[in-house]
Amino acid sequence: MERLQKIMAEAGVASRRKCEELILSGKVQVNGETVTALGTKADPAVDEITVDGKPVGAEKKMYLVFNKPKGVITSASDPQGRKIVTDYLKGITERLYPVGRLDYDTEGLLLLTNDGHFAHMLTHPKHHVPKTYHATVKGVPHGSELDKLKKGVMLEDGMTAPAEVEYHDINPEGKESTISITIHEGRNRQVRRMFDAINHPVNKLKRISFGDLFLGNLKRGSYRHLTKEEIEGLLKQVRLAGKYNKAEAPVESASSNTSSPIESLPRRTRKPKTNNWSKSSARPNSQSQDKSSIRNNKPNRPNKSDNNSSRRTNNQGRSGKSPKR
Ligand code: URA
Repeated sequence: MERLQKIMAEAGVASRRKCEELILSGKVQVNGETVTALGTKADPAVDEITVDGKPVGAEKKMYLVFNKPKGVITSASDPQGRKIVTDYLKGITERLYPVGRLDYDTEGLLLLTNDGHFAHMLTHPKHHVPKTYHATVKGVPHGSELDKLKKGVMLEDGMTAPAEVEYHDINPEGKESTISITIHEGRNRQVRRMFDAINHPVNKLKRISFGDLFLGNLKRGSYRHLTKEEIEGLLKQVRLAGKYNKAEAPVESASSNTSSPIESLPRRTRKPKTNNWSKSSARPNSQSQDKSSIRNNKPNRPNKSDNNSSRRTNNQGRSGKSPKR
């Protein structure tokens, strides 16, 4: 026997909090009787649970990747009537909800599903699923400033975990730069707050990957179904990350044998290498420095053994683009 809201959330009805609201609003029946008490327990194998008359658990599991445009709410409803992600899911009748969230002003990769277990696995803080963003920020942060982000910065809710950071693009006049940043947490407005902390506020933010899954060339406002391999790949990554976190083993010495579970972990779960680029005292795009030297200083250019994942496709490095030459 389990709490009704837990059964409903795991069956993909909605988040647990939303399921509680559904129960309280009298929309949920167990064996034909409306239930409004939050402590109610049921057995999904025996009891017939319905929401608005629709049986729970009867829906086919669905997994989508969506390219969220800026100016859209990551939610299944908005009391203020703003655009919501499900407005873009034409032809989808299943009740899908987002896996984690992106800010109203953030664009890019958003997963949607009705599989509560899948969503829970990917968003649980213990699993540290890495997410990579392209943050276009004011000015050009100095290498030493990016170092702070790499080590962790103090925000009002505590220190951030180490992040992976690299220059992605630099405006020739130095007014703006795009930084690729991979974080392993999911705090509210985390990337924006991290750049605020080094005094380079974010002008534009786009998520380009979630785990080993890339946005690729999916058009803004469009979605596609994940393949079976992609779904399994994401879950496998979570399981491997969970194992690694428990073991706390140093993995720098992992061999290049890609069949080793450690080697097949995403690179960002490994101990970071020291980069010389961010230790440089020169501003990467100061007027006196030419762009080729910036590129030569670029860190972590993916090497062949790092690109084995079928989900990091099209020769994409961490930045989601082929490295510029
Ligand atoms: N970090 C942010 O600041 N915003 C997002 O939408 C996601 C991560």
